[in-house]
Amino acid sequence: MNLEIEDIKSLKDQIEELVREKEKLSAVLSNLKEGIVVADPSDKILVVNEAASEFLNISTSELLRHSLRDFLEEDLKFFFAPLIQEKEISAQTVVQHENRILSFRAFFPKNQEGSLIAKGLVLRDITESQRVEELRKVFVANASHELRSPAAGLQALLDAFEVGGLENLESRTKFITMMSREVSRLNAIIQDLLDLSEMEREKEFAKEPLDIVKLFREWLSFYETRIKEKDLHLIINFYEERISLTASLTDIERLFRNLIENALKYSPTGGDLEIGLKVEKNQVLGWIKDSGIGIPEEHLSRIFERFYRVDKSRSRALGGTGLGLSIAKHAVERHGGKIWAESVENHGSTFYFTFPLIQSE
Ligand SMILES: Nc1ncnc2c1ncn2[C@@H]1O[C@H](COP(=O)(O)OP(=O)(O)O)[C@@H](O)[C@H]1O
Ligand SMILES: [Mg+2]
Repeated sequence: MNLEIEDIKSLKDQIEELVREKEKLSAVLSNLKEGIVVADPSDKILVVNEAASEFLNISTSELLRHSLRDFLEEDLKFFFAPLIQEKEISAQTVVQHENRILSFRAFFPKNQEGSLIAKGLVLRDITESQRVEELRKVFVANASHELRSPAAGLQALLDAFEVGGLENLESRTKFITMMSREVSRLNAIIQDLLDLSEMEREKEFAKEPLDIVKLFREWLSFYETRIKEKDLHLIINFYEERISLTASLTDIERLFRNLIENALKYSPTGGDLEIGLKVEKNQVLGWIKDSGIGIPEEHLSRIFERFYRVDKSRSRALGGTGLGLSIAKHAVERHGGKIWAESVENHGSTFYFTFPLIQSE
């Protein structure tokens, strides 16, 4: 009698242990980013986690009620048929499913005697990494293309030099001027690429207390001549005497330089150029407004992309690299701020940016 009670007790303990193990397993599985489906050798589905249910777009309870063979319609066949046929699939297998790119693997654990214990499927969402990889390829292609054009220009000038460009002083000076322009272009592209890669790589960067009003006034004085040359009417709209924030000086300078250079480049002579700074809701709001050529609506959402230009040849002729705004965007966003543009074609553009006054560490 006693023994029986002991047995029942131990059985109860074992069951509780099993339940606890199952709970542990299901907690682990539900936290996995990978989707997991496990079926028994006769294809009855035994284990499914939330990720798998989401990827396959079928509820876990629905899956758990069925056999793999009940889901052989359309694209689900792609995942389940190899399991039914016990066909090993490596993780390299990639498939587009429900607007996602999934990689999947099918595996078949066996016991020591070599008979099948279960059938397993692991699904991984690789949409983001594929997108990043795609962007990286496009970026490398664009960068090479941009570098090739001044390099080819230099080569052509050097070739011409060899053929007889050295003969008289006037053509020699002309050649040297043209060559130096190509070298400047190369340098500008390389410098912008270095800035971009530095900002993308360095998650931690140096910040210091600074007064953005003072800095903007100081930097504006460097542009005085160019503003006069273009006969632009400068409007300074600083709402405060000083605005202190903790930020990277280099980044603020990158932002200012790129925005002001664009405003100057893309404005005809005789317009307005407004620079503003104010404090609004725990942040600095700044703007640089020009009355230049403007940006057509359909391009507005893309100008912050790397190498994106409304008019490629115009930008190149003005010494642009197509990277300025993406540098400005990085500089602002890595401080937790935002940057955006409003523009009316042929009337002008305003670039706005914000910096939080309280930096999150
Ligand atoms: N103030 C502006 N007015 C009109 N167009 C602008 C202005 N700023 C930027 N753009 C457009 O956005 C594109 C991207 O700017 P940016 O990244 O600075 O490259 P770029 O080297 O060509 O200046 C420019 O080529 C131009 O077409
Ligand atoms: Mg620019």
